[in-house]
Amino acid sequence: MSKVEEKQKIQVAHLNDLPLQVGKEVIIGEHEIALFRLSNGKIKAIENRCPHKQGPLSQGIVSGEYVFCPLHDWKIDVTSGEVQKPDDGCVKTYTVEVINDIVYVLI
Ligand code: FES
Repeated sequence: MSKVEEKQKIQVAHLNDLPLQVGKEVIIGEHEIALFRLSNGKIKAIENRCPHKQGPLSQGIVSGEYVFCPLHDWKIDVTSGEVQKPDDGCVKTYTVEVINDIVYVLI
């Protein structure tokens, strides 16, 4: 039997607050989240801390479905949270919902 996980849906932004390809830092309790609106319109949320040396990913350069860490340029997939080769690691990802132009993160 699978257990249904109860998640909280937290309102974090209006679509108008999210320019394309510019990260936004959102703090919800102990969760520090980097929110991105990609050039294809998708909204993604990942942990705002690079697995290398805690670089603030919300300040990274966004390209396609990746963000480049502002500190040492690691490339991270904003959907899976996976660091791309030759580097290694993973950041936590969060589910995002957009309803009537309001962006919610499930935590
Ligand atoms: S802290 Fe992100 S690449 Fe070094």
